[in-house]
Amino acid sequence: MRELFPGVYAQNGLFYTRNSLKGFKVHGEKLLQDKGSEYREWNPNQSKLCAAIAKGIKHMPITKESKVLYLGAAHGATPSFVADIVGSKGEVYCIEVAPIAMRDLIAVCEKRGNMIPILADARKPEDYEEIGSVDVVFEDVADPQQAEIMNANARFLSKGGYALIAIKSRAINSIEEPAHVYAKVKKILAEAFEIEQEIPLEPFEQDHLFLVLRKK
Ligand SMILES: C[S@@+](CC[C@H](N)C(=O)[O-])C[C@H]1O[C@@H](n2cnc3c(N)ncnc32)[C@H](O)[C@@H]1O
Repeated sequence: MRELFPGVYAQNGLFYTRNSLKGFKVHGEKLLQDKGSEYREWNPNQSKLCAAIAKGIKHMPITKESKVLYLGAAHGATPSFVADIVGSKGEVYCIEVAPIAMRDLIAVCEKRGNMIPILADARKPEDYEEIGSVDVVFEDVADPQQAEIMNANARFLSKGGYALIAIKSRAINSIEEPAHVYAKVKKILAEAFEIEQEIPLEPFEQDHLFLVLRKK
């Protein structure tokens, strides 16, 4: 097992995290035993963060002991891999607006000590400001105002803090050329962030651009 980044592993072209709860799976992923540790297969077709890793992210800001604000936690699949990476001394604040997804999310969080479910709208960061400052903001909400949501949540980062965003072109404008959509989104994000890396997510996700951002 080769460690690509702290807590992120690869073997034979597949990606893994070290399972912090032996036997735990979110969606039937394979578990692999290696030298006394259990690894959980992380599928880049099912997780935009894993797709960004597969496509060559240069700097992975989510690391051991990170405190992460995760916007659009859905059923807790990718957040659970983030929870493996940050480990027991890290924290993952999982923001989700849909009550139905929240039910599954709570079930995942209950099994893990470092995931905190929060039923809230990511457009209203004032509703969860008690989380305090974080090391990384991660956003995966398919919303026409993705960039504005990220800028609003930049308040949780210090200068130089990192943010990661998966931009879904079709959710912002279903008919406009993705390159034009990305240009507009980047302009809005530039109010609060410098762009450190741009990663197109094809072939794992069509018309998605992943950005590594640093707070100005
Ligand atoms: C593409 S899914 C996220 C998948 C998840 N990141 C994963 O990889 O497991 C997008 C999620 O964002 C949520 N969402 C959309 N708008 C939101 C908002 N304004 N605030 C919080 N969550 C939102 C949706 O309900 C949905 O569950």
